[in-house]
Amino acid sequence: MRPVGAGSPAPQFPGDVIVEMRGVRASRPRPPDGRRPVLDLPLFQVQRGERVAVLGPSGCGKTTLLHVVAGLLGVDTGSVRVAGCELSGLTEAARDRFRASAIGVVFQSFNLLPTLTAEENVLLPLRLCGHRDSARARHLLKRVGLTQEARAPSSHLSAGQQQRVAVARAVVHEPMLVVADEPTGNLDRASARAVTDLLLEVCEEAGASLLLVTHDRDLAARLDRTVMMADINRVGGSGAGENAS
Ligand SMILES: Nc1ncnc2c1ncn2[C@@H]1O[C@H](COP(=O)(O)OP(=O)(O)OP(=O)(O)O)[C@@H](O)[C@H]1O
Ligand SMILES: [Mg+2]
Repeated sequence: MRPVGAGSPAPQFPGDVIVEMRGVRASRPRPPDGRRPVLDLPLFQVQRGERVAVLGPSGCGKTTLLHVVAGLLGVDTGSVRVAGCELSGLTEAARDRFRASAIGVVFQSFNLLPTLTAEENVLLPLRLCGHRDSARARHLLKRVGLTQEARAPSSHLSAGQQQRVAVARAVVHEPMLVVADEPTGNLDRASARAVTDLLLEVCEEAGASLLLVTHDRDLAARLDRTVMMADINRVGGSGAGENAS
């Protein structure tokens, strides 16, 4: 099932590469008025259906990488293609529409809307596409152990519960690509397992790719490939420019 497909089809593309970043440089503000280079990626690719873990020390640019892939942050130079779509060629509004149909994002800080219930937060990506499937939202919340909390305002939930809502929200519209920023960072072992199972199962069901940042090597080992940021990012890294496997 791909709910998005009924009204606004998810993008189709011919190749097997779902993410391709070439010659990408990205920077962040450096007060008072400068910018600091954060990413310098000669080449980074994710294949269709591939599950990739990204590891690296705090501050090395993992979140920045995910934000660039999700079209949340523009680049200074280079090409970012997701599902055949060149993101730098899109307006911000077009990037937002593309993300709404093709990408699911689990933010490091969750980014739930505090006044909405857990279920309403999960429904948001569907509503952006003109759909409403409360049963699917409740089903996903059940899979992450939040049946009782579905009607609670998200601001009343613990950090770990909010993180599980964020994971359910990222997969509800069956995106082609899920980017997840430390999606088990606040969870106990059992909840982390349930969230990881959900991410892997939903991606498998939809043939979606998964790009996941984590500090947890056990979680990383469950994915197809592990990439060390220092191996792909020339800022503060080795400059090798090759993916580790
Ligand atoms: N909004 C921002 N404004 C200015 N600088 C930023 C911003 N976000 C990140 N940075 C800087 O960019 C660099 C990379 O940050 P990023 O958040 O991508 O690291 P990270 O690898 O995700 O770290 P962590 O493991 O702690 O989450 C850091 O030097 C950080 O200070
Ligand atoms: Mg981060």
